Amino acid sequence: EIGRRQAQWGGPAPAPGRPEDLQAPRHSKDEQSRRLIEDGLKKNDFLKNLDPPQINAVVDSMYLKHVKSNTLIIQEGDEGSHMYIAAEGRFEVIKGGKVLREISNGEVFGELALLYNAKRQASIRVLTDSKVWALDRKVFQQIMVRTGVKQREDYIRFLQSVPTFKGIHISVLAKICDLIRVEFYPTDKQIVKEGDVGNTFYIVSGGSVKVTKRNPESGVEEELQSLHRGNFFGELALLNNDRRKATITALSPGAECLVLDREPFIEFLGPLDAIRETVWEPIEEPRSQEVKEEFTHIAL
Ligand code: CMP
Repeated sequence: EIGRRQAQWGGPAPAPGRPEDLQAPRHSKDEQSRRLIEDGLKKNDFLKNLDPPQINAVVDSMYLKHVKSNTLIIQEGDEGSHMYIAAEGRFEVIKGGKVLREISNGEVFGELALLYNAKRQASIRVLTDSKVWALDRKVFQQIMVRTGVKQREDYIRFLQSVPTFKGIHISVLAKICDLIRVEFYPTDKQIVKEGDVGNTFYIVSGGSVKVTKRNPESGVEEELQSLHRGNFFGELALLNNDRRKATITALSPGAECLVLDREPFIEFLGPLDAIRETVWEPIEEPRSQEVKEEFTHIAL
């Protein structure tokens, strides 16, 4: 159920090769189409780590495909063979037989199965004769290949962008990166359960999760807030040897987390004061952007 990125840093380096050296055929396209694809990639929550050569490689390799009205371009539960960007026409997302929403023009879809080696999380139905930009799985994976060194740099850069980790020396971040793993949790997957013993710490790197807590009087599960890229959770049970204080569940269409086990967490992050300043932020309380930045984690 939990997908893992194939290429992990810290392991043996995959064959070196830059997206510029890609053997895949290039498909010429006008400036407007290039912009549409580039913007779509940059807006996607799970493709934010792509660097400029990778973005260029995707833009070059995508090709235009016509799709007929009333067909399923993606079927929930299937293996994924392509990633798409909506170019023209209308598409809807269906999950568990329920229509969730329409895809907007320029939006990426079908990236999850390719990124996390997972089954298709939803179906995509074509509502009118439409056009998509398509990318083959093999080409996508070739573009996504990173050397161990490059992967490490990406994640160090990401950790440096998390306000709470700002003061941490780069050598410590590098050690943390060696011990971290990347996991993907599909919609509604419970990542942490209130009352459980905790052995892991999580940093949201893509998508989002919700924090809920059971009201002991009414027995109702109450939603406290949602957490996004750069927010973290799960530290309190590790610091205090306590039980999980809330439940964390992946929101639609899923969440990518960097996961660190108890021992390296205590060794490298345990002494960090910022991590001990645990703040509960009720979801209905609006906050300004600057204040929000300071409260980028929830104590669990
Ligand atoms: P993938 O799982 O590869 O195939 C179905 C795609 O639907 C999925 O990737 C996402 O790109 C897209 N999608 C859009 N909304 C959702 C959603 N709520 N849940 C799952 N997938 C979604």
